[in-house]
Amino acid sequence: MKHPKEELTYVMIKPDGVRKGLIGEIIKRMEQRDLKIVALEMFQPTYKEMDNHYPKSDAWINRLGERTSGTYAKYGHDLKRDFGTTDLKKVGKVVRSWLIDYMVSAPLVKMVVQGVHSVDMVRKIVGATMPYSADMGTIRGDFSADSAISANIEKRAIYNLIHASETPEEAAHEIKHWFGKKGIYKYKRFGIDE
Ligand code: PPS
Repeated sequence: MKHPKEELTYVMIKPDGVRKGLIGEIIKRMEQRDLKIVALEMFQPTYKEMDNHYPKSDAWINRLGERTSGTYAKYGHDLKRDFGTTDLKKVGKVVRSWLIDYMVSAPLVKMVVQGVHSVDMVRKIVGATMPYSADMGTIRGDFSADSAISANIEKRAIYNLIHASETPEEAAHEIKHWFGKKGIYKYKRFGIDE
């Protein structure tokens, strides 16, 4: 059994995070919470690489459609008007394609972050997916204000600054996809490892 402080997660600063000049702030918030950056690189992904990053399973695509439909229902907006359909799988597919288009629109910063329960801790530092409802004090709550409906009316993905893995399994897949075995470093951080 691994010690919890060995847990790794994958974080990617999205085009809006890079273009708002938030690279340093985002890294600072991870490091100040005693998380360790063990890999870091700016890069421009290809469409294919990004397509292979996001899951292609029906379950993931349907979940995207369901969540989008839930937000539309909550705010009394018309899913059919914006998507031309109420089929949740089709809605999920459209949102997935907007996400990929968005993620290849500017350079990104990818990193691997290590620390105690890093997957959950990073998600907490990052905040809720929808910036308008993310708590103040989280990165999304402090630096963004987008919502699914404003994004989807404009036929685009949500501008929510960061992608962070949702589970340790997803993190392992994403780290392998974006870094392979190269570029992951081992070092001891003062006050944490010694
Ligand atoms: S999360 O944060 O991963 O749990 O988000 P999730 O709800 O699973 O959504 C997966 C990614 O899709 C983006 N998203 C959307 N984009 C545009 N329109 C709508 N309605 C929408 N709903 C979700 C969301 O930002 C997630 O992107 P990543 O890169 O995983 O953060």
